[in-house]
Amino acid sequence: MSTIRCIGVCTGGGDAPGLNAVIRAVVKSAFLKYGWKVIGIPDGFDGLIWPERSHELTLKDVSGILPRGGTILGTTNRGDPFHYKTIEDGHEVVRDISDQVLANAAKLGIDAIISIGGDGSMKIGLDLYRAGMNLVGVPKTIDNDLSATEVTFGFDTALHTATDAIDKIHTTAESHHRVMVVEVMGRDAGWIALEAGIAGGAHIILIPEIPFSIESLCAHVALRESYGKRFTIVVVAEGIHLPPEMRHMSRGMPVGNLVGDAIALMSRREVRVSVLGHIQRGGSPSPYDRILATRFGVAAVDLIAAGQFGKMVCLQQECIRAVDIADAVGLLKTVNPAGELVRTARAIGIGFGD
Ligand code: F6P
Repeated sequence: MSTIRCIGVCTGGGDAPGLNAVIRAVVKSAFLKYGWKVIGIPDGFDGLIWPERSHELTLKDVSGILPRGGTILGTTNRGDPFHYKTIEDGHEVVRDISDQVLANAAKLGIDAIISIGGDGSMKIGLDLYRAGMNLVGVPKTIDNDLSATEVTFGFDTALHTATDAIDKIHTTAESHHRVMVVEVMGRDAGWIALEAGIAGGAHIILIPEIPFSIESLCAHVALRESYGKRFTIVVVAEGIHLPPEMRHMSRGMPVGNLVGDAIALMSRREVRVSVLGHIQRGGSPSPYDRILATRFGVAAVDLIAAGQFGKMVCLQQECIRAVDIADAVGLLKTVNPAGELVRTARAIGIGFGD
């Protein structure tokens, strides 16, 4: 028999479409299925440093948030109670204030916490769980690079946004006979670049998992011209590793611009660059992301009811399951350069600059 009466929910790390759908599902199922009270903790675990900022989330509070991007709770990708940074006398001081965070959760009457976040938030959640907090995790990242789950919500929406942008860039590329470079997100993995590139009909895709050279990029542009194709679309993941010949160029500029400049210099073609940036994290979640987020939220509440703390919900073989957070953190899911998706792309003439 569960002794839970009140749970907290927080969102940490970069925002992703679908966070509000998780919050809504948590509040609804906690209240309707179990009769629990839910407290919304603002700005990740930072909200537990100042407990007076937390407040109850009622059914009314989550009404209408399903289609909204962002998170009604706010988020931060800097807050870590084990390494909390402050400025004292003009100097940065790092402290472990996790005791305070645990004490404040207890003061608020919170029996268990659902932490919705990426790998960084899961690591902090794991440490808080080990320090005594009843915590379950819900994975999130538009990059879709967490190995414990087949899909994270937010990815599908980001993919739609990036594909739509590539579709739009196509017309200018074709009309002006240009090389158009589109930089998409993906800090450590090339999933958005690869899938949006295939979906958007890109001709070259650069991802962190496949080393490339500017020479072979330019050779691909020239090859297309030999078929009478006077335009080329290059999709670049922000996390690509620059080849040696480009390393001197790296001066804090987006890698898309560096790739564009290098192509222009070597191939003497007209090049334009679009860096999509945070528009990929915004917007209304797709139906797929809303459904996955809702399933994750409900499953996280069920994990608490079952006393399964230190676990993270995930999607495996289309089913919602739970894994130990300890087994989930730090394990990135990257693109297999020899995998079926890359082979499919190569089969239809997409180049990877290698
Ligand atoms: O991890 C998700 C992500 O969108 C990465 O692709 C990107 O590098 C990062 O977040 C950007 O974070 P910030 O909002 O701090 O610029």
